[in-house]
Amino acid sequence: MFTSRIIGCGHCFPKKIVTNDDLAKIVDTNDEWIFSRTGIKERRIAGANESTASLGAEAAMMALRAAGERPEDVEAIILATTTPDHPMPATATKIQAMIGASRAFAFDVQAVCSGFIYALSIADGLIRGLGKRGSVLVIGAEVMSRVVDWKDRSTCVLFGDGAGAVLLKGSEERADGGRCGILSTHLFSDGTFYDSLFVDRESSAPEGRGAIESADRESSAPNNHGTIKMNGRTVFTIAIEKMTEVAALALAENSLSINDIDWLVVHQANKRIIDVVVERLGIYQVTERIDGRRHVAQAPSCTQRTAQAEQRIDEPANFRGLDTEKVIVTLESFANTGAATIPTTLSIAHNDGRLKAGDLILMVAMGGGFTWGAAVVRL
Ligand code: COA
Repeated sequence: MFTSRIIGCGHCFPKKIVTNDDLAKIVDTNDEWIFSRTGIKERRIAGANESTASLGAEAAMMALRAAGERPEDVEAIILATTTPDHPMPATATKIQAMIGASRAFAFDVQAVCSGFIYALSIADGLIRGLGKRGSVLVIGAEVMSRVVDWKDRSTCVLFGDGAGAVLLKGSEERADGGRCGILSTHLFSDGTFYDSLFVDRESSAPEGRGAIESADRESSAPNNHGTIKMNGRTVFTIAIEKMTEVAALALAENSLSINDIDWLVVHQANKRIIDVVVERLGIYQVTERIDGRRHVAQAPSCTQRTAQAEQRIDEPANFRGLDTEKVIVTLESFANTGAATIPTTLSIAHNDGRLKAGDLILMVAMGGGFTWGAAVVRL
């Protein structure tokens, strides 16, 4: 059977680091509040010479190099972004020109923070449906700092800029018949939540950005496209509900349990959201190692395990499950980078040697709209 496999990953972040203490100089906030409520310590912010296209192009080139492929062999470029460089044309075409993917067709996908899962699903359909043997670049790139209201402490602390990319290629299934590549994607949306998280085009340019810019003359141009408005409580509650639901659906439809998953890559908007999703999926936390044995300090309540205290997981009575070390989190250093979060996380974990050929990854995301989705991928 024909399948779409990830053959390369790449990522790119702006150089400028903005810490929680930096933000405390421009809005009434502090590191303790931000870190305890979100898990974020710092984020990257694009400079004047950096854009969604330039970050996306860097990430794409890194993915191509990792795969040993040439830009001119790319057949399609799909960019997931909430922050295109211009409302038209598609920023993906700018990336096409920047990397010299002369044979490709290119377009943008807008599904906010779920955008990468949506784009991955479309790319998988292209490869399967058209029987393409060439490669498809799937990029998530954002300059969220240009739609952030730098005077609104409840949102400006949450977001960051960056880009990640994967290169997909059509291939035959493994000779042994084992399933590999993109095993499934599930996509959903519910537009009744449209105004729970949106960019208000009527709002004025955020003067607060000047404070960030004054720290670095190279910072990006002022925003002319409105700013993020968010009902944080609604997003928090629905994100937990939908990401848990779609993760469970993706596992069930592949006849998998959470025990089978090597890595969980969840969209990273808030560490507390991830923690609850992880707990509901039956993932346990290993907090220490004693005598080479792993000890579980927090048993998942939903599994109704009797042992709430430390338990040796290598003893027969112990439950199996995914430990939290398998949940890849980069939020502390990069904050919520929208559609870039999942591909940057994949690329970082691939580069540091965590992701290996044959690993099974469950990706889950949720974003404005609301949109949500999951992908199960065997590397
Ligand atoms: N620093 C200090 N205080 C802040 C603050 C900040 N950056 N932001 C808000 N506060 C204050 C509020 O004004 C409020 O003060 P009050 O009690 O005097 O009115 C208090 O902290 C609690 O605010 P609340 O909104 O209830 O906090 P919370 O615990 O719900 O956390 C979020 C707020 C935004 C962190 C949380 O709702 C969240 O993460 N939501 C989801 C966001 C998200 O995922 N967005 C992207 C989706 S893709």
